[in-house]
Amino acid sequence: MNDADVTALAEALAAADRAVALTGAGVSTASGIPDFRGDGGLWERYDESDFHVRRFLAEPSAFWRDWVDLHAEISGNAAPNAAHEALADLEAAGHVDAVVTQNVDGLHAAAGGERVVRLHGRGDRATCRRCDASVAAEAAVERVRDGEAPPRCDCGGLLKPDTVLFGERLPEAALSAAESHAAGCDAMLVAGTSLTVEPAASLPRRAAEGGATLAVVNAEPTRAADRAAHVFRGDVTEVLPAVADAVSD
Ligand code: APR
Repeated sequence: MNDADVTALAEALAAADRAVALTGAGVSTASGIPDFRGDGGLWERYDESDFHVRRFLAEPSAFWRDWVDLHAEISGNAAPNAAHEALADLEAAGHVDAVVTQNVDGLHAAAGGERVVRLHGRGDRATCRRCDASVAAEAAVERVRDGEAPPRCDCGGLLKPDTVLFGERLPEAALSAAESHAAGCDAMLVAGTSLTVEPAASLPRRAAEGGATLAVVNAEPTRAADRAAHVFRGDVTEVLPAVADAVSD
């Protein structure tokens, strides 16, 4: 990370009228939450197909028994890190309009982010598929640990985590907001995501096609880099605070 690159990105964000951030699991690894596809990522230790919505519907007991451990890893008690705080500072200073995140850990809001678009739902709640009652995901997981699989609502309905599962439609309002931000922004800061999963993976291209300046901050190469004016192969907890500081200078 060199100062000139940081300054250039800071100037681009300062000049932008409608900047948006797109984040993934890489912004939370410094908080102790593993990512999915980086070194030692969750998909090296768990089978993605165990968490497809088809399996939830066909084998809810087996799904919930597997979900207990994954839930603990992606929604554990974690605190925001310097990357979350830098994005919250950029939002508070008016340099970022919103953070569109694929993460379900709630750490952008915990850092003070107010306009957070949660594309993949949230990890702290579960909802009854019969009566729509919302319960704390931890309470449902506790019941599974105590032998109640699948956990059921008081009405007898099946509980489902509020995290969007593979094969499941994204929350309509969040998807619409994310697409609107991508189409209407003049700068997009992409941080800590491998851009593997659609539709999030296509948002940077959508932004670039609308004329937005792209910036990518990621430990590993991503497909957005070749459209990006600013590319940092580095740690989000170093680059984002440096950019936030430079913008405020
Ligand atoms: N600084 C910069 N980059 C980092 C850091 C860090 N501190 N830690 C990890 N990374 C990078 C990894 O190298 C990886 O390229 O962040 C990226 C995270 O990519 P993924 O693990 O694929 O996570 P994400 O892109 O958010 O996955 C999208 O896939 O499994 C589904 O629903 C799940 O929301 C998730 C979606």
